[in-house]
Amino acid sequence: MPLPCPLLSDSVSIEMDTQDNQLCFSGVKAQELVEKYGSPLYVYEESIIRKQYRELVDQFLYPKFRVHYAVKANYNPTILKILLEEGCGADTVSDQEVRLCLDLGFPPESIIFTGDNNTDEEMRYCLEKDVLINVGSLSQLERLGKLKEGARVSVRINPDVGAGHHSHCITGGPKTKFGIYHDKIEQIQAIVKQYNLKLVGIHSHIGTGIMDSEKFIEAMDVTTGVAKKIEGLEFVDFGGGIGIPYRESQSPLNLKDFGAKVSEHFTKFCAEYGNDLELKIEPGRFLVCQAGTLIAQVNTLKETPAHQFAGCNTGFNHLMRPMAYGSYHKILNASRVEGEKKAIVLCGNICESGDVFTQGSDGIEDREVSALEEGDLVAILDAGAYGMSMSMQYNMRSRPPEVLVSPEGQTKLIRKKESYEDIMSNFC
Ligand SMILES: Cc1ncc(COP(=O)(O)O)c(C=O)c1O
Repeated sequence: MPLPCPLLSDSVSIEMDTQDNQLCFSGVKAQELVEKYGSPLYVYEESIIRKQYRELVDQFLYPKFRVHYAVKANYNPTILKILLEEGCGADTVSDQEVRLCLDLGFPPESIIFTGDNNTDEEMRYCLEKDVLINVGSLSQLERLGKLKEGARVSVRINPDVGAGHHSHCITGGPKTKFGIYHDKIEQIQAIVKQYNLKLVGIHSHIGTGIMDSEKFIEAMDVTTGVAKKIEGLEFVDFGGGIGIPYRESQSPLNLKDFGAKVSEHFTKFCAEYGNDLELKIEPGRFLVCQAGTLIAQVNTLKETPAHQFAGCNTGFNHLMRPMAYGSYHKILNASRVEGEKKAIVLCGNICESGDVFTQGSDGIEDREVSALEEGDLVAILDAGAYGMSMSMQYNMRSRPPEVLVSPEGQTKLIRKKESYEDIMSNFC
């Protein structure tokens, strides 16, 4: 029985799929997936990735519009290939992300490299491969000029506006390390002139998990203000950051309104600029977050005077957002979605007391979940972005496998579980 589960704007909603009161993914029960692939397990639904991409593109009426997926959100090659098929470009932050995108067939001109504190080697690699470098400091711009006079380049500015779900994720404003401050245009232009660089793009990215279009528009105005002072641009890139409602109580960003406002502001800017430039954005989370779920198995129930703990076979090594940012993820009993609710703390198998998935702004908190028994499967939702890509091998535990479920319910292993040998392979 599909339960209505409005997660996005009016035009975009994702239905939760259940059969026999068990959680399903495009019609496939969590239990079946675990029997076939083991647990813990990351599951992605292809239909949601494609739907998110199409919904986003549909809301931007400005004709010269390009989406570059922020690969850092999830670099599984199968996911990248789905987005490539949809016509998406890539936003990358390391030479290895660039290499992966090129290997998968992303045309070099569809890739932007927006790394931070980059080495000359990384820049040399991008120059060799004709991948545009989006430079975030004056000294890097100078180093790039020395590496290749006359190179095409884009510049990341810091628009003095920041936003995001956590202070660690705000990337605009005076307290952050990113970009060249927006008032340093003269210095940018002096370096561009000295090395005969071709400045083709202006970029900003103010943070991640943004649910308020006003902040985005505010930053856009500063960014286009800088762009107006530079001749010969081909594009302006406003970065990523579109948030998703992790909590039931959160209102999603109104995508339709957002797309319309951004398109309108940009059209106005282009009229003043005297040329219809390309409008780029770089969403990561929005495209893949809701497509991914981390499934784990409860193996231990225990009580303290403060909490009823449900312990499972994954931990912050596989999904660090709750531990790192106090982030909220919806949690379901995938074996019995509906049922009498019981307050639990869901914790993992890592030897740290912060290894808890039910976190709130004040730390560990109880969550009402339909009563869990040992052996039940739990689903940690909205784990497709910054989940597996931020995972690690702490406690010498392997990273879990990843599985893709097609819209027709076919399942495919898209990353194997790490083995003991994989972990040991780099030790000398
Ligand atoms: C430069 C840049 N672009 C895009 C993104 C993607 O952000 P999000 O996943 O919030 O859309 C990030 C994330 O930190 C980023 O640093």
